[in-house]
Amino acid sequence: MNASGARSILPPLTPEEAQHSGNVAALIAAQVRAAGGWLSFERFMELALYAPGLGYYSAGSSKIGSGGDFVTAPESSDLFSACLARQCAQVLALTGGEILELGAGTGRMAGALLGALAALGRLPERYAILEVSADLAERQRTRLQELPAQLRERLVWLERLPERPINGVMLANEVVDALPCRRFTCRGSGVRELGIALAEGAGDGFREQFGTADAVLAQAWRELRASLPGALPEGYTSEVCLRVAPWIASLAASLSRGALLISDYGLPRRHYYHPNRVSGTLRCHFKQRAHDDPCINVGVQDITAWVDFTRVAEAGSEAGLEVSGFATQAAFLLSLGLETLVAAEADPVQHARLAGEARRLYNWLPIYDDLSSQTSRLAHVRDHYSLDPVHFLLRQN
Ligand SMILES: C[S@@+](CC[C@H](N)C(=O)[O-])C[C@H]1O[C@@H](n2cnc3c(N)ncnc32)[C@H](O)[C@@H]1O
Repeated sequence: MNASGARSILPPLTPEEAQHSGNVAALIAAQVRAAGGWLSFERFMELALYAPGLGYYSAGSSKIGSGGDFVTAPESSDLFSACLARQCAQVLALTGGEILELGAGTGRMAGALLGALAALGRLPERYAILEVSADLAERQRTRLQELPAQLRERLVWLERLPERPINGVMLANEVVDALPCRRFTCRGSGVRELGIALAEGAGDGFREQFGTADAVLAQAWRELRASLPGALPEGYTSEVCLRVAPWIASLAASLSRGALLISDYGLPRRHYYHPNRVSGTLRCHFKQRAHDDPCINVGVQDITAWVDFTRVAEAGSEAGLEVSGFATQAAFLLSLGLETLVAAEADPVQHARLAGEARRLYNWLPIYDDLSSQTSRLAHVRDHYSLDPVHFLLRQN
């Protein structure tokens, strides 16, 4: 779906959103000009999401939850955190130590997880949150103030990863998909990088434009191509997140003994880069609608790309971690007793509510109107192949 197509179907921006988006666009446009007229998509995504005080995650709009742009599993039901608590309790029983949550969003999962761990008698020594968005960290603090003192006092917010490696559990729910990624297109026997330029005659508007792939992207693409079972067709466009490996390496270096649990949307590599998935996995979320035009609503919509789980596994093993589990959300939650949690609820009204929430979690489907599916003949492959987030457990002994 092109820019005008998506814009015409999305809800209009409020005057405040339009003003804010204009400010973010002006900042990015200045960087495009300073860089000679073209920015890599990775840099564009980084600024659009994380420019201090301005980017989507850094500024003050309500993003996550039913009143925001998208809903994550822990925002949808606390049953998710109740199951996750059982997994954390198993690890903490072996390692002791703490929980470190990366990118805690609204803080709902942290609160629910602490409550569930208290009920299991397995509270961590502390619950640390490392959040890149100052705005979200503030919201987390405000929300988690409400917790009982015995839980609240275990919370701590970190500015960076701990210098001394920790024992315990690291959690990252829907964080990897928010790491800025590169975009590429196969051309002839080589690769071009898809980036962002200024749209002609549109003020600080943007358009996608090809640039020369730098040595890092060209090398990553060669390695990717060599690891796939077949060739990718001419014009094939997709994403590659080169930040995954350094991010996982930094987490591994901070984990002495314990587990890193990553949950996200994604696919193993050969499915991610299936030859039919000709335009990649990039998605933007705005007011519960999904579309694929990152050039509009800049700074007031989410931008995300699915995760290549093979890259995650390779990065983990490169960093000395061992892949100890890989499961769909349904399998993960059912194996942690989702059904017993629902069955334990005696009140019939609450039971019916929980049963509905559980069904939604194990049939996890985004509730967005996927605008791009109206136009893409490959929508069934791209959008319905794997909407089930996958949980990945990487363990450090
Ligand atoms: C899609 S939201 C998910 C929020 C929450 N985990 C949930 O599931 O509701 C992505 C979160 O990751 C944070 N984030 C992005 N990059 C990060 C990084 N490198 N380290 C820590 N947090 C990060 C964002 O600020 C945001 O809180």
